[in-house]
Amino acid sequence: MRSTLVRQFGDPGQVIELVDVPRPAPAAGEVEVEISLAAINPSDLIPVTGAYSARTVLPFVPGFEGVGIVRRVGPDVREFKAGDRVVPIGASGLWQQFLLRPAEWCFRVPDGIEDAQAAMSYVNPLTALRLVEALREHFGSLEDMHVGVTAAGSAIGGMLLKLLALENAVPTAMLRSEKSRNRCGEAHRILVADSPMGSQFDAVLDAVGGALAGELIGRSIRPGGTFIQYGALSGAPVPQTAISGRPDIRFAFLWLRTWVHSAGREALEAAFLRSFAGLQSGLFASPIAATYPLSRLADALAHQADPRRDGKILLDPRC
Ligand SMILES: NC(=O)c1ccc[n+]([C@@H]2O[C@H](COP(=O)([O-])OP(=O)(O)OC[C@H]3O[C@@H](n4cnc5c(N)ncnc54)[C@H](OP(=O)(O)O)[C@@H]3O)[C@@H](O)[C@H]2O)c1
Repeated sequence: MRSTLVRQFGDPGQVIELVDVPRPAPAAGEVEVEISLAAINPSDLIPVTGAYSARTVLPFVPGFEGVGIVRRVGPDVREFKAGDRVVPIGASGLWQQFLLRPAEWCFRVPDGIEDAQAAMSYVNPLTALRLVEALREHFGSLEDMHVGVTAAGSAIGGMLLKLLALENAVPTAMLRSEKSRNRCGEAHRILVADSPMGSQFDAVLDAVGGALAGELIGRSIRPGGTFIQYGALSGAPVPQTAISGRPDIRFAFLWLRTWVHSAGREALEAAFLRSFAGLQSGLFASPIAATYPLSRLADALAHQADPRRDGKILLDPRC
């Protein structure tokens, strides 16, 4: 079967190999899923670079997110049968034709959601829900709360702006270029490459890190406010001096995988119900730039890295 493999850390375009491997049979408690579509997310590529080498075992098959059809079930599996459409989570490995996964880490996709959106029903929707939940835990109600969203042109940025509007918060979209302005309809205000200086936020949800995060923490969060870091698109960490310089605000990281591996099946099912409902309503719809056959992985990764990219890239391992 067609698969990918990372045997050494490095530039994803260089070190992710296309390989042909045997198709193993599902063991007890496992299902075999034929992957229909898998997403390319920044969080798929960061482990390939070696940034998390302490917890990344080589070799590995990349890809944390996608959708597929159950083809075979292992002994003792009762909750799924061949033909069921599922989202398998909990580990990487989706950039291949057939994936084996314990049944308890698979979630049934309801009818009425197209594969392309179902393939992105996990990472960003569940993280957006966790981020807004974290703000609610800090503030109680988000009514009239001024919340800054960096990289607001991203797929998750768009989801956050919509969720915050539903909470009657006052979201400000921060963009690095005009390119994504048209995706920030729910934003109360849009700042394009402008310094946030002078803006006063109750909270900031940041996926950029680096100097921008330092400036926001240092000068743009009201005392008693909160700054939640959930990405590092700038490639640079949040300056520690900025954090230690603001003991009057709450700084926190949010990593979806930490919650996923501690939440339990019931909470995960509830989160997926909200994700699927959000996909049906459009709340969690992600723009798609292109879909590539896995056999053209190099082209897909080049498109992913292109700053002109205007949406998510999907992979089809069936071809
Ligand atoms: N912590 C977690 O568990 C978790 C979960 C989900 C996502 N995330 C993080 O959320 C971020 C967005 O993910 P996504 O899937 O929504 O991405 P995406 O749709 O692929 O979008 C990438 C966006 O990031 C913007 N961008 C890229 N580099 C930037 C920079 N240096 N400064 C400012 N903006 C930059 C681009 O802006 P323009 O196109 O507008 O120029 C583009 O809109 C990533 O960092 C990802 O790792 C974290």
